[in-house]
Amino acid sequence: MSKSTGRLGQTTLDVGPIAYGLWRFVGNDVKAARTRIETALDAGLTLIDVAAVYGLDWGGSEFGESETLLGKVFADAPSLRKRTVLATKFGIIPGVPYDSGAAAVVGSCEDSLKRLATETIDLFQVHRPDVLTHPAELAEALTKLRTQGKIREVGVSNYNARQALLLQQFLSFPLATLQPEFSALNVEAAFDGVLDAAISRNMTPLAWSPLAGGKLADGVSSADPTANRVAGKLDDLAKQYGTTRAAVALAFVMRHPSSPIPIVGTQNPARIAATTDALRVNLSRTDWYALVVAAQGKPLP
Ligand SMILES: NC(=O)c1ccc[n+]([C@@H]2O[C@H](COP(=O)([O-])OP(=O)(O)OC[C@H]3O[C@@H](n4cnc5c(N)ncnc54)[C@H](OP(=O)(O)O)[C@@H]3O)[C@@H](O)[C@H]2O)c1
Repeated sequence: MSKSTGRLGQTTLDVGPIAYGLWRFVGNDVKAARTRIETALDAGLTLIDVAAVYGLDWGGSEFGESETLLGKVFADAPSLRKRTVLATKFGIIPGVPYDSGAAAVVGSCEDSLKRLATETIDLFQVHRPDVLTHPAELAEALTKLRTQGKIREVGVSNYNARQALLLQQFLSFPLATLQPEFSALNVEAAFDGVLDAAISRNMTPLAWSPLAGGKLADGVSSADPTANRVAGKLDDLAKQYGTTRAAVALAFVMRHPSSPIPIVGTQNPARIAATTDALRVNLSRTDWYALVVAAQGKPLP
């Protein structure tokens, strides 16, 4: 990778500039799963992002299935665990639907540790805000898990800026990460205060669905006219910069001064490796704003 690793927030965890996400990582094929993880780590995608709830989509059938598959990969090749900054999430329970109360947090952590066949989770993230849990209760549970060494650092996902700062108020250690959706199609995080909060508190943004779940991937034309407009602009820029549409889309995410880490979700090893093409693209200010205009569908003031 031409762009070097960096620290996750104010922690001592070093991570690559692109991360690998396991939302679509399901099934029982441990050999294929191991190839994906090895390809990601070899390419420098050292933060691996999973969640307790992953496994219920994309052909999976069970809560915890993606963590279980990753745990099998680690059991098969323990050296891969040592190379991974392991991030998971808790707090979404289908049917509930959100619970970040103390008992749920502790129970979810223990279940994830078992499924992942590991002794510690490097980054434990609240998957979505549970507005019925007082942040003091959540903070106390997270602090206890951290003191026990079951988790190393804490992050939040799908929190707005105020919710993140509110939880931070009850923690005696800094939140390491925020995880908003952010892509050339979904640009809100750059304007709604989430990426500003990341800068303000030195948290690292992890950008989910940086190719808009595939709508911005090379060769894809979707039913969504806005996505097609953005994809067309990405194609123009890809020609200009001598690269691919996906590389420009990932470069768009990384261009923000909060230094977001895009979490890519492809299950295809060649595409995992090719994500690093984005590190050679330095988008100009004008081209970055032109993509915002394409996403918003109206000129900037
Ligand atoms: N916190 C949250 O609430 C939340 C929500 C959603 C996602 N996430 C995180 O973000 C990660 C990424 O999300 P995502 O899977 O939606 O990411 P994405 O990278 O935006 O989209 C990946 C999809 O694009 C497709 N694709 C097609 N052509 C591609 C190409 N040339 N290059 C790359 N991908 C191509 C992939 O299919 P192939 O597999 O066939 O390549 C895959 O289905 C998840 O795994 C998860 O860790 C978090």
